[in-house]
Amino acid sequence: MINYKDLGLVNTREMFAKAIKGGYAIPAYNFNNMEQMQAIIQACVETKSPVILQVSAGARKYANPTLLRYMAQGAVEYAKELGCPNPQIVLHLDHGADFDICKSCVDMGFSSVMIDGSSLPYEENVAVTKKVVEYAHKYDVTVEGELGVLAGVEDDVAAEESHYTKPEEVQDFVKKTGVDSLAISIGTSHGRCKFKPEQCTRNADGVLIPPPLAFDVLAEIEKKLPGFPIVLHGSSSVPQEFVKMVNQYGGNMPDAVGIPEEQLRKAAKLAVCKINIDSDIRLAMTGNIRKYFAEHPDHFDPRQYLKPARQAVKDMVAHKILHVLGSDGKA
Ligand code: G3H
Ligand code: 13P
Ligand code: ZN
Repeated sequence: MINYKDLGLVNTREMFAKAIKGGYAIPAYNFNNMEQMQAIIQACVETKSPVILQVSAGARKYANPTLLRYMAQGAVEYAKELGCPNPQIVLHLDHGADFDICKSCVDMGFSSVMIDGSSLPYEENVAVTKKVVEYAHKYDVTVEGELGVLAGVEDDVAAEESHYTKPEEVQDFVKKTGVDSLAISIGTSHGRCKFKPEQCTRNADGVLIPPPLAFDVLAEIEKKLPGFPIVLHGSSSVPQEFVKMVNQYGGNMPDAVGIPEEQLRKAAKLAVCKINIDSDIRLAMTGNIRKYFAEHPDHFDPRQYLKPARQAVKDMVAHKILHVLGSDGKA
């Protein structure tokens, strides 16, 4: 049993309380390798932002859970070395599918876990979430639950259509489970194509303009749970500069569309205090790696082509902190 506090990590409790009071959101970035972790930490130290480093089931399969945990421990020391004396870093399990994976993460030093029972019948979601909370809270690990279904791919859970969170369920769910935060569905979705073209309009340049998020549902939820931390998954903005870069240098990503930054900013000022981003990191890296290969066909050292990719992720993370989430200066 390893306690996250011994690794210099923190849970989400105080972070979320401050974010709600201050009208900003904490960035939650998925990471799978060293370059992504370096970029995220460098940007967070430079902007003095707290951060949630999150690990998905896919990341665990790709990189090995133990290595990822040591990388997060390394991130704390790395942040100190970069000049942040008291790093505010959470190591979070993203989309925990069952009690066992949540328990295993608590036991190996994670400071926060998500139990994603959103695809289960309501009472089963309540039961498994409650069980995870009871275990995690013994070690002061915070727990995120989810109500409502996001369209797109949620790790191993694929949903054709979204079902907005029902505001009438949230109070009962939070009361029965004891969760520390709640992920909701108000129109965001995972991946790089968040809306079908027929759900969008197009601007003069043919770029897709997505429909707005359901801020009325968010307002209803906030009314039922005043001051309670709300989480948005599937919140990449899918920057068109990276989509263009991918397509220009041999990729094929038609109709990629994300959540506009102004809508995330608006959500961050309301009850949303954690915003999940993964796809934008993938796009920034892939666009830049494709460009690098096209411009340097003779290069073969991964350090050469990963360097601009890492820089692009760092710049993007800093931009989001400063101009979208508002978490700069809060660490
Ligand atoms: O919510 C899903 C995340 O984007 C993680 O996806 O399992 O492919 O790492 P992944
Ligand atoms: P994106 O696919 O929009 O980056 O969402 C990531 C996410 O929600 C991880 O849990
Ligand atoms: Zn997610």
